[in-house]
Amino acid sequence: MDNDLVKIEGLVKEAGGRVILLNGQITDRNGTPLPGLRIEIWQCDVNGKYLHPGDNRDVNYDTGFQGFGYDITDGDGHYSFRTIEPGRYPGRTPHIHVKVFEREKELLTTQFYVADEPGNKSDSLFRRMSSEEAKSVSMHFTEDRTGKMTTINVRI
Ligand SMILES: [Fe+2]
Repeated sequence: MDNDLVKIEGLVKEAGGRVILLNGQITDRNGTPLPGLRIEIWQCDVNGKYLHPGDNRDVNYDTGFQGFGYDITDGDGHYSFRTIEPGRYPGRTPHIHVKVFEREKELLTTQFYVADEPGNKSDSLFRRMSSEEAKSVSMHFTEDRTGKMTTINVRI
């Protein structure tokens, strides 16, 4: 378990789906970087299946996908993940689950969304947010030689 959800240690196979680099900085409300926080993400695989016994949909799980990962913010509050574009499952728009902890204490629970995804408009959780909140958790992708990437900065 690490911050690379695409490659499972000891496995040759890599996850299916479009690989993305997700990174950002976690700060407090004044913009002061918060080092040493634990950020966890989890999401479904390319087939829209979660690595979780509660997901009992009859879809094969991609055994190359780690499903869950965490990172610890560095001295400047930065985190990074290598993962895939979140898959689709019935009833929700694509999203990545996110939690931030300071030791055992949970500081934040949220979800990251794909900017301009048509399904966002009809998603019950996405629609609950103000446009400002929605913007703060929407992933805009850029692409260069190294791949597709997005930055989400988090204020706690
Ligand atoms: Fe979900």
